[in-house]
Amino acid sequence: MKRLNIGIIGGGTVGSSALSLLWKRKALFEHMGFDLHLSPVLVRDPNKTREFEYPNVTFSDDPAVLEQADIVLALMGGTTKVLEFMLGQLKAGKPIITANKAVLAERWDALKPYSENGQLYFESSVMAGTPVIGPLCGTLRSSDTLELHAILSGTCNYILTRMEAGASYDDALIEAQDLGYAEDPPTLDVGGFDAAHKLCVLARMTVDPDFAFAKLEVKGIEGLSSERVQTAVKNGKRVKLVGSIVPNGSEWQAKVRPVILDADHPLAQAASSRNTLLFNGDACGTVIVQGGGAGGMVTASAVIGDLIDHLAGVSGHKPRPEVTKVPVGFYAEVFEEI
Ligand code: NAP
Ligand code: HSE
Repeated sequence: MKRLNIGIIGGGTVGSSALSLLWKRKALFEHMGFDLHLSPVLVRDPNKTREFEYPNVTFSDDPAVLEQADIVLALMGGTTKVLEFMLGQLKAGKPIITANKAVLAERWDALKPYSENGQLYFESSVMAGTPVIGPLCGTLRSSDTLELHAILSGTCNYILTRMEAGASYDDALIEAQDLGYAEDPPTLDVGGFDAAHKLCVLARMTVDPDFAFAKLEVKGIEGLSSERVQTAVKNGKRVKLVGSIVPNGSEWQAKVRPVILDADHPLAQAASSRNTLLFNGDACGTVIVQGGGAGGMVTASAVIGDLIDHLAGVSGHKPRPEVTKVPVGFYAEVFEEI
């Protein structure tokens, strides 16, 4: 059996669930020939009271604890400190698995080389445990993108679903925070920025390896009233926050905004914190993927899935190697924007 030292940055919603799942799958790792060992988990406050299913977990606020790790799970938010931690490990040649889409979207300048050489795994960063990054970097890459539309924010979809049922925006946001869906601060979700981070990651996997985060157009759900959301339902429609990557003249355009969809549209089928991705490729046609989009365990499932892939010899997620030709004479689906 080969000893595998795992380093973890972050012991919050995702970190604690990843630890639980690691423990539950201990036998699977043993069958794969690996004996798991945990370095102290890197957190902000090592004195906080925490309970984990994984036995004898210890904590530290000293990044030196990562030095003994063979592989690191980066499960904290932000873009500055986390990048510093990640680069230290990547430069030492270690693989990193991360759920942090903000750092991927905003610090791609520093992270892209490590994605290109297969050191970075980030399935959980977009649509949590619902697999989209792997398929888009693998099987679906044989298709050139025509259009991509997706519901990418579990928090916003949860809030909109609760508003349809009569809850106020403020109450629904507090519920989403209590359920562990929301970012810190939640403006990242309701302002549309979290969905934009994810859409930017998707753009680099599907249309342009250097798609700039600043190029994204972003509008969130903050201004929407319950009345607006409920009127849509009465008229056989749904209000959803949708991210789209579409041809626009000779360029690719990416935008996140609230739209009105027919209730039977595939994107309208995801309720609560669930997400949906609709990918239309020139060879594969329309592919629709739907599943859990936020929450500790559903995100941990993709984090641990990436670990299993890595141990099985599968490379990390690589961006599209070239800009996809913008299709001529193709008209992407247009939605009514609010
Ligand atoms: P969280 O519950 O707030 O946990 C964050 C963890 O990071 C905490 O344990 C915190 O330590 C630690 N941390 C923060 N700053 C630190 C620092 N400077 N040094 C060391 N540790 C630090 O957040 P989360 O929901 O688990 O999210 C983690 C990441 O996963 C984020 O990038 C998020 O966008 C992403 N993600 C979350 C979800 C979800 O549904 N929650 C889904 C997909 C992706 P303390 O505990 O001591 O404060
Ligand atoms: N805050 C994010 C969301 C977590 O609500 O979708 C999952 O990435």
